[in-house]
Amino acid sequence: MKKRWWKEAVVYQIYPISFKDSNGDGIGDLQGIISKLEYIRDLGVDVVWLCPIYQSPNHDNGYDISDYQAIMDQFGTMADFDLLLETAHALGLKIVMDLVVNHTSDEHPWFIEARSSVDSPKRDYYIWRKGKDGGLPNNWESYFSGSVWEYDEKTDEYYMHLYTKHQPDLNWENEEVVNQINDMVRWWLDKGIDGFRFDAIAHIVKAVGLPDAPDPEHLPYVRAYSLFSNLEKVHKLLRNLNEEVLDQYNIMTVGETSGLGPEQALDYIGDERNELNMVFQFEHMQMDAAAGGTGKWHLKPWTLLDLKNILSKWQTVLHGKGWNANYLCNHDQPRSVSRFGNDGKYRKESAKMLATLLLTLEGTPYIFQGEEIGMTNPKFELIEEYRDVETLNHYHESQKNGVPLEKIMESIWKKSRDNSRTPMQWDSAPHAGFTTGKPWIQVNSNYKEVNVQNDLQDQDSILHYYKKLIALRKHKDALIYGEYKLLLPLNPDLYVYIRTLEDEQVLIILNFFDETPTFTLPEDLKGRKPQLLLSNYEVEEEGIQSFEMRPYEARIYQLKSK
Ligand code: GLC
Ligand code: CA
Repeated sequence: MKKRWWKEAVVYQIYPISFKDSNGDGIGDLQGIISKLEYIRDLGVDVVWLCPIYQSPNHDNGYDISDYQAIMDQFGTMADFDLLLETAHALGLKIVMDLVVNHTSDEHPWFIEARSSVDSPKRDYYIWRKGKDGGLPNNWESYFSGSVWEYDEKTDEYYMHLYTKHQPDLNWENEEVVNQINDMVRWWLDKGIDGFRFDAIAHIVKAVGLPDAPDPEHLPYVRAYSLFSNLEKVHKLLRNLNEEVLDQYNIMTVGETSGLGPEQALDYIGDERNELNMVFQFEHMQMDAAAGGTGKWHLKPWTLLDLKNILSKWQTVLHGKGWNANYLCNHDQPRSVSRFGNDGKYRKESAKMLATLLLTLEGTPYIFQGEEIGMTNPKFELIEEYRDVETLNHYHESQKNGVPLEKIMESIWKKSRDNSRTPMQWDSAPHAGFTTGKPWIQVNSNYKEVNVQNDLQDQDSILHYYKKLIALRKHKDALIYGEYKLLLPLNPDLYVYIRTLEDEQVLIILNFFDETPTFTLPEDLKGRKPQLLLSNYEVEEEGIQSFEMRPYEARIYQLKSK
């Protein structure tokens, strides 16, 4: 397998608005991030992925960009950014930026120009259509509820937006758009950044003719994934971007691609494709949602068997052909410990167990800010405490449809994107030391217990466990390049696998629940001599032939031939 720096790297994701506020306005900013770079370096990570920091009216927290070459006023200036990049590099950290090019803000000069008249030279930068039979151009549903079409009175046409109406989709069929994006990407790379996370990249191409999605139930809007996801032309555009720009730099790229399995992912990341290094897949994020429409909000319990199946499939299909991007949480998902672990009695144990999974799979691990201290979903009582546009749209839509309030709130407590967007909990000062002012969104009420300062002081903390895990991964090639094999596939409580690289073998044993099942070493491993590398509990016994596991216990063993 080809060795690459980004395969050996661990990534730490920052959601800037909630990371650290330096000037008391309640909003995280670049100076705040700079002040915490040493903290990040001390974790042992290599790369920081910064969610969008570009100029934006903030209808979707920076994912609506009005100027790709300027910094959002609330976050600071370009001089702050240059200092951030320089400081990070001096500390040995690389910086990966979010590249949001499926859409711009409706306040981007291109869109302002485009909407000024049907004859505007930039009109075709976006996707405009006339209404059909007195109605919308088609029946597609937006990711954030309602139609993808917004009527523009001035020109009597509709423009397309897969996300909010303040995020008009760019028309990638237009060559000038492609050239403009190439130039912008080159400009950032020439500044010295180390890569991009390609936001919503699966959606930049839409089905020819924008046909209606099949709608047997006569819904007002239909989620038309297959008509705007992972279409063939996306690959052509990505190869072109590599040839024109990316190939000239030693960077890493990771695409956000929902709606695909590992075979299809190889079209993006296959070694010979020259498109992306990795993609974020969503199968393990969708196993607790009902299919179709606004499925995300329809809660369905997940099972460990499903999780094992999904992750194992990705591990095996990609091995030797492409590279995984592993994550359990990000700024669009609930907190991993609340979702897959136990955010009550076993918060510490289960957060460490999940960390063990994240850091020992094949693929580059992505840690989301606060995950390293086991931050949890906040469960705000009142809808007024929530800020996320997707959550608020869902709330209003559900109310309109007569869904009872408890049901709506229950789905928000579980699935709202704000679950991961509450401020980083630094210490036990007011607002968790995130700001001296009033935070833009409430701090989680558990901050006096769950915070960085506590974890730094406690040798047994989740934070210290992360550090040990990251260091371990760095020194064990089998944990990076080793082949993954699932053991005990049908065991519903334990997740057990082995990573093998030549004569090096590492065994990972994870108990996913608060029960105490017995682990028994599979026959074919019985001749091996185990050496404990790390565990989230004290381990006394020597052998591992068979033992009772404690709640959420995790163990990593090196197996040696006797
Ligand atoms: C991606 C981002 C999400 C954003 C959306 C639109 O899914 O991760 O936060 O709302 O794209 O840009
Ligand atoms: Ca600030």
